[in-house]
Amino acid sequence: MLYSQLNQSTTNLYNRWNEYRKMIDDIINGYIDGDTIIIGAGNGNDLIYSHILKGNVKIDILDIDKKAVQKGLDRDGIAVNDIFEIDITGIKANVSELIINSKSQIALIENFKTLSFEKIQLEKSYDTIIISPIISQLFLNQVMAEIQVKYRHINQDLLKVLMDKTGEIITNFIEFIKSISKEYSKIIFWNDILQFKSDYEFLKELTNESATQYLNEYFNKYGISPVKFGHDEIKKLGDVLEEEFLHWNFNDEKAFLVQLNVVEIK
Ligand SMILES: C[S@@+](CC[C@H](N)C(=O)[O-])C[C@H]1O[C@@H](n2cnc3c(N)ncnc32)[C@H](O)[C@@H]1O
Repeated sequence: MLYSQLNQSTTNLYNRWNEYRKMIDDIINGYIDGDTIIIGAGNGNDLIYSHILKGNVKIDILDIDKKAVQKGLDRDGIAVNDIFEIDITGIKANVSELIINSKSQIALIENFKTLSFEKIQLEKSYDTIIISPIISQLFLNQVMAEIQVKYRHINQDLLKVLMDKTGEIITNFIEFIKSISKEYSKIIFWNDILQFKSDYEFLKELTNESATQYLNEYFNKYGISPVKFGHDEIKKLGDVLEEEFLHWNFNDEKAFLVQLNVVEIK
């Protein structure tokens, strides 16, 4: 699937993300304590592992791409407890093969409809759960990219099935987060929620207040949230201790508005 290509394409962006990584570190550092899991760590380009690994902190990492994770840890000279190489969607089929082998978009619709998911479980719970931008990537974007290699126009019914499956995956993901949390666990998560061109001044000028206002106005005008991928649902798991909007200067072409939250589980 596309995740390993994506991780390879961002390996070299470590230096470009210096300022972004530091912004995240400054916000999250004080909340990290005890048994900690990082979900979707990838290359670890947005994490300062040496700051996370302090005092009584023990780190586990969950990512479908162990190779990228190990490279990031080696770069920073860090050893962690465990790396779980798990597909968090729990999809029981090989989706890439399914796309290649389906003879038409109608066949794809039928095949995607039958897609079922395995419940992901870890026999452990954590004091701190760090979720690197993974929910914006889960399933829909990756599958769409693979389908678009084969078909230029996507059938609306196919899109609808993919959206339904994405909803199921996000719901399962949130259930998984609940299953590994304890009372008063801190969940730290950030996601790219809007994409801009790299030189777009509007994004650079956004403050926390103006970003919140912009998102509210957007919702009131169109009746839909911009791309949130379950971010708000994770917020509902407890008390919101922190909400920040960050400017992520991703590469020469694109930049993102990122929403970061810290939630304490109730
Ligand atoms: C946007 S990246 C996070 C990038 C990371 N911050 C970095 O610096 O590379 C999302 C991560 O989620 C992982 N991922 C994507 N789909 C996944 C899945 N279904 N199960 C587990 N991990 C997945 C990817 O391997 C990638 O490392």
